[in-house]
Amino acid sequence: MWKKWIGMNETDTMTGTVGEAGKTTGRNKLIVYFAGLIAALAGLLFGLDIGVISGVLPELERPNVWNIDTGMAQEIVSSLLLGAFIGTVLSGFISRKFGRRNAILISAVIFAAGSVLAAFSSGPYMLIGIRFVLGIAVGIASFTAPLYLSEMAPENIRGALVSMYQLMITVGIVLAFISDTVFSYYHNWRGMVGIVAVPASFMFAGVLFLPRSPRWLVLVNRREEAERVLGRLRGTHEEVKEELREIEKNLELRKAGGSLLINRSFLKVLFLGATLQIFQQFTGINVVMYYAPRIFRDAGMMSTAQQMWGTVFVGLVNVFATFIAIAFVDRFGRKPILYIGYIVMGSSMLSLGLMFHTGRIAVNPTVQYTAIAALFIFIAGFAMSAGPVIWVICSEVYPLAGRDIGITVSTATNWLCNAIVGATFLTMLKALGDDITFWIFTSINFSFLAILWFFVPETKGISLEKIEKNLFSGGRKLREIGR
Ligand code: BGC
Repeated sequence: MWKKWIGMNETDTMTGTVGEAGKTTGRNKLIVYFAGLIAALAGLLFGLDIGVISGVLPELERPNVWNIDTGMAQEIVSSLLLGAFIGTVLSGFISRKFGRRNAILISAVIFAAGSVLAAFSSGPYMLIGIRFVLGIAVGIASFTAPLYLSEMAPENIRGALVSMYQLMITVGIVLAFISDTVFSYYHNWRGMVGIVAVPASFMFAGVLFLPRSPRWLVLVNRREEAERVLGRLRGTHEEVKEELREIEKNLELRKAGGSLLINRSFLKVLFLGATLQIFQQFTGINVVMYYAPRIFRDAGMMSTAQQMWGTVFVGLVNVFATFIAIAFVDRFGRKPILYIGYIVMGSSMLSLGLMFHTGRIAVNPTVQYTAIAALFIFIAGFAMSAGPVIWVICSEVYPLAGRDIGITVSTATNWLCNAIVGATFLTMLKALGDDITFWIFTSINFSFLAILWFFVPETKGISLEKIEKNLFSGGRKLREIGR
């Protein structure tokens, strides 16, 4: 069974060497999976850095710690996100100049050193500065790791490896919530941020053993090395030759990328990717990721332990519901899943707002439980739809020559909107109240349904080449490029 999952033939052995054309054998596959695992650690770290802050804030708010106010809390949260935005914008250049592997290595060093330094912060501004630099590492990793994975994985397991990366983000978030909870019993926020250095060091050590991306080696004219690396990753000589030819053809195409910026069809699809990410972030997901303990407190859960375990549960729901998307995205298609997800998210935000609106949330257990249930349903709605599926569509709609630009623009938009949400949520709660704030997210979730209907193509089961042909064939609406 497990062999089937990782795409091995039943007759393959873990020490097998030469396979038939088109198949990668056991030993090669092990190398691919080792590389996949290490690169996916980047996803884990990304998740850890996102998740860790929710437990840190309540500690820093304590009068005997730093007594931070709302504004400062938002700055601490969003400094990392702003850094990630900048890291993403830089990562196209960095991963091209230094190579994918070195870019991941650079981010591992920043992750490790930054986490230790953050644990020794002497005040909020130092923490903000360090989180900004950590954010740059998150940005570089969030662009380079999936790129590396897709460049070294054989076609038959590419989807699985890239999904594994997404899953690792959610696992990272929940691990951070759990470790925060443990440290919260000792009120030790320094432990919460410092512990991230441990997986970061593992990643650093692991990346040292990774092969370079064959595609990058060809890009910088190191064809022989590329051939050697492919020889280790693939089963047969013919496979290696064929893939090299393919890479070279693709790179020729990519050179045309710059001129695409004046192409109307390309600009349309660039706009689509950015819009999808705006609507992923303005669902309000990260409001819950960063401020869950605070939301639980507003909902009447008074003890720190209750708030922290509630947050761990949020993280678990987020992981498990992601499997629903992985199972159904290729069966039902992207759009049906998104329709369901956004209806679920809109409705649960609506009920959450209503529960706060009653004004009885802290005193009436029924109101309180309904609000908490609504919050969990919201998380499940996100994780089974927008969480992974928006990334999937963004990896499918760009033409090859403009894929680097497209992915940079959509990932950077994701981080920028993430920063905006992180930097404004507490102010919104204060100025508008919990009810109106959640209703604003309600209306954004519901209005995405119209965007989905009018502009988003269904990309299930269609080759990327066909999507590209449709995009440039003129006269087609965006929503039709997947047909
Ligand atoms: C989003 C992140 C979010 C995460 C939660 C990702 O798809 O881009 O902003 O924190 O899902 O699992």
